[in-house]
Amino acid sequence: MEITFYGHATFKIVTSEGIRLLIDPWLDNPKAPPEKDLGPYDLILITHAHGDHLGNVLEIARTAATEVVAIHEIQQYLLAHGIPNVTGMNIGGSYRTKGLTITMVQAVHSSSIQEDDNIIYGGDPAGFVIRLEDGRTIYHAGDTGLFYDLALIGELYQPEVAMLPIGDHYVMGPKEAAKACQLLKPKIVIPMHYGTFPLLTGTPEAFAEHLKEMAPEVALKVLTPGETIKL
Ligand code: NI
Ligand code: MN
Repeated sequence: MEITFYGHATFKIVTSEGIRLLIDPWLDNPKAPPEKDLGPYDLILITHAHGDHLGNVLEIARTAATEVVAIHEIQQYLLAHGIPNVTGMNIGGSYRTKGLTITMVQAVHSSSIQEDDNIIYGGDPAGFVIRLEDGRTIYHAGDTGLFYDLALIGELYQPEVAMLPIGDHYVMGPKEAAKACQLLKPKIVIPMHYGTFPLLTGTPEAFAEHLKEMAPEVALKVLTPGETIKL
């Protein structure tokens, strides 16, 4: 598989079978590289309704060849806004599509859509566990604070790669993310959701320090926006 980081919480994954997946498609975030893949994608996963995660979905999911997967309330919103192929699900369930198994898991955060003066309820925020065709597993935490049931996600799904927010203020900071690694026990952790705005002050350097102390067996892989790793 290939994993490309596009800045903030946006990742492209291309599986060994060639399925093209995009998570939290904010392709024009302030850290996004000039060169990026605008699709079409086979699958787009949305962790929650905040603008920095819905991102450019309304532009890049316009044909039925692209399937969007999100919680029920976001599904209803996207269908009402003309996106043709959206599958709704909810926390705890798994959905099999295009050879992948997508499990929606808990995240501790909020979720809403702002339209002018209105705040639209976005359902609960979520993370995703993605089991690929060959059984390898990736966990994208979405926006979340630290919670003990990350251990349950680790136990049940044994993610090889975890994408965890470290930016602080709106999400976990470096210390909390290191504790999350101790609970999850992934082989590799990729930090995300830092440095995009001034308030997101957590750094990969601080994360590395805490990781050394709390989960030294987890390999830290810091990706610069636009960088791809092959695993
Ligand atoms: Ni958020
Ligand atoms: Mn966010």
